[in-house]
Amino acid sequence: MKGIILAGGKGTRLYPTTRGICKQLIPIYDKPMVYYALSVLMLAGIKDILIITTQNALINFQDLFGKGEELGVNISYAAQDQPRGIAESFLIGKGFIGKDKVCLILGDNIFFGHGLPDLLQDAVNQEEGATIFGYYVRDPRRYAIIEFDEKENVTALQEKPAHPRSNWAVTGLYFYDNEVIKIAETLVPSARGELEITDVNNAYLARGKLQLTRLGRGYAWLDTGTCDSLIDASMFIKTIEDRQGLKIGCIEEIAYRMGYLTRDALEKIARQIHTSYGEYLLRIVEEERSS
Ligand code: DAU
Repeated sequence: MKGIILAGGKGTRLYPTTRGICKQLIPIYDKPMVYYALSVLMLAGIKDILIITTQNALINFQDLFGKGEELGVNISYAAQDQPRGIAESFLIGKGFIGKDKVCLILGDNIFFGHGLPDLLQDAVNQEEGATIFGYYVRDPRRYAIIEFDEKENVTALQEKPAHPRSNWAVTGLYFYDNEVIKIAETLVPSARGELEITDVNNAYLARGKLQLTRLGRGYAWLDTGTCDSLIDASMFIKTIEDRQGLKIGCIEEIAYRMGYLTRDALEKIARQIHTSYGEYLLRIVEEERSS
């Protein structure tokens, strides 16, 4: 399975900050926002990853991750010159996806919760169709909304309805079979001029091939779209990390625990980072050495 991180857009709700820097590169507490999305793909066991971002930001992402060799994964890059919609990812990424299945994650989404790797694995193992993840929110008007029956079969999806009939939002994490390319090729721009991811999901729904996985109360799905939600997300990460002494979204740790990096390789990375982040990685190296 291939993985795509969509990390473009204009970030206008964070102006002036995002006039000079791509939103997904600004920090959520102690690491760049995009680390959280990358960590989800890595936890799903996905090693071939395409990052789609703006032409201007490409070089910054390349500086950050290179080809992914330091993490034991393969990272490639593509530009989206205008934010023409989330579903454009599959047109830009067509060659990269090839005949494979694909997972798309929005580069500004943060997921946290016990058991997440198992849920991801279930979605990876799904042979055909699509899987979306639902999350109960207070203000559903800001998201695509899911209606479903008592058996959790999705009955309707609506993008940002003015009068939502459900509080279950579609999160920015999607798994698809290879049909997604053909579906994306038939899309027409919506009233707001975008190729809508909800139209892709509705196409799967119409074929009876849309699977819903609900993320219950024990999960956090955090928004990073506004200055307030940004600081809230940072505080959330800081609170959990301080309390547990364990990091969230630490891609080097995940690479090590997935077996992509040796302990020596992890130590080499750790010694180049002279912050508490580097100290954390060194602590893992030392704990592993003495275990
Ligand atoms: O976060 C989940 C929601 O994401 C879903 O519930 C909605 O169905 C989906 O449309 C989307 O809603 P947003 O209003 O959050 O979408 P937004 O336009 O803000 O784009 C989400 C991220 O994707 C944002 O960081 C920018 C990036 N993006 C967006 C578009 C439209 C791109 O990189 N390129 C694009 O063309």
